[in-house]
Amino acid sequence: MTSLARNSTTTFRHVVIVCALLAATGTPLGAQTADLQRVVNAAYEKYKNLHEGKNADYIPALAKVDSNLFGIALVTPDGKVYTAGDVTAEVSIQSVSKVFTMARVIQDSGAKAIENNMGVDATGQAFNSIVAVEQYKGSEMNAMVNPGAITATSMVSGTSRDEIWNKIIATYSDFAGRPLTVNQEVFKSEAETNQRNQAIAMLMYAYGHIKDNPLQACDIYTEQCAVSVNAKDLAEMAATLANAGKNPVTGKQCMSSANVPKVLAVMATAGLYDDSGKWLFTTGLPAKSGVGGGIIAVSPGKFGIAVVSPPLDAAGNSVKAQKAIAEVSNALGGNPYAPGMVTTASK
Ligand code: DON
Repeated sequence: MTSLARNSTTTFRHVVIVCALLAATGTPLGAQTADLQRVVNAAYEKYKNLHEGKNADYIPALAKVDSNLFGIALVTPDGKVYTAGDVTAEVSIQSVSKVFTMARVIQDSGAKAIENNMGVDATGQAFNSIVAVEQYKGSEMNAMVNPGAITATSMVSGTSRDEIWNKIIATYSDFAGRPLTVNQEVFKSEAETNQRNQAIAMLMYAYGHIKDNPLQACDIYTEQCAVSVNAKDLAEMAATLANAGKNPVTGKQCMSSANVPKVLAVMATAGLYDDSGKWLFTTGLPAKSGVGGGIIAVSPGKFGIAVVSPPLDAAGNSVKAQKAIAEVSNALGGNPYAPGMVTTASK
């Protein structure tokens, strides 16, 4: 078969699948429960034997996590949950936490607070780049990279460390729909090795972005990164953003619907770090990765999806999670820039 013919056949098959999904009824996606489960299962089967990438090891405890963990969860705005693989196995949330701390700051202090403080622009640099801080003295960056994220944590108000922490963990738990806890081994492991983040916090303090107690902000940030989550927790957190801030399973309004687009915009800009452009080009989905191996992605009004698989690529993003999310979103027409159409994401 010529490549043109093969492409046409593939495209035709995708169009047929999507038309079938759109024609069906029963979920906000227009697809039936069985169709959604089939799409999730198919992505799991397609990638379960892929062995690319490597666990993060700069936080020693992460190197010990089972590299074969692989779980996919998708949650729709009507609260239905579709899963495949290791969906109850927990990993540390790591940088996915940055989304929800930023959401809390936006909710409490307004979106301008983050725009004015660390900024909402891509750095094009690694997530822990100090050059990125130096370039604009800690401005013109975002809350998805470490300097902006530690600064966002410092912006959660409270008269004691406990009060600040309780707000953060309550926020994450509301989004996840259950009380979350910290993996103490991961927290200790990162706290013992986070000198670079401490330096970043001090630099953001020196430039006036962190107002007070930079090392406390770094410590709380380190603890937030060690919160333990499974694929279903992460998918419910993503689905809450897909559902205008209301957790579709518990029914709790976790943030105002007006603030959700601000959160999604920063995720789209910088959620996969210096590969954010490539990711957006491929899927169109606001997303966020963590070095624990989780990625969440949001198709507004359609679904939240999460995949857990620890091995990462060079940019620090889970290899299998990127592929599986692109595959599922492609099959469901999840790209918000192309409503109702398939993308070429998973070819
Ligand atoms: O601060 C760190 O380095 C980690 N706690 C989180 C980094 C991270 O997850 C980057 N993700 N892709």
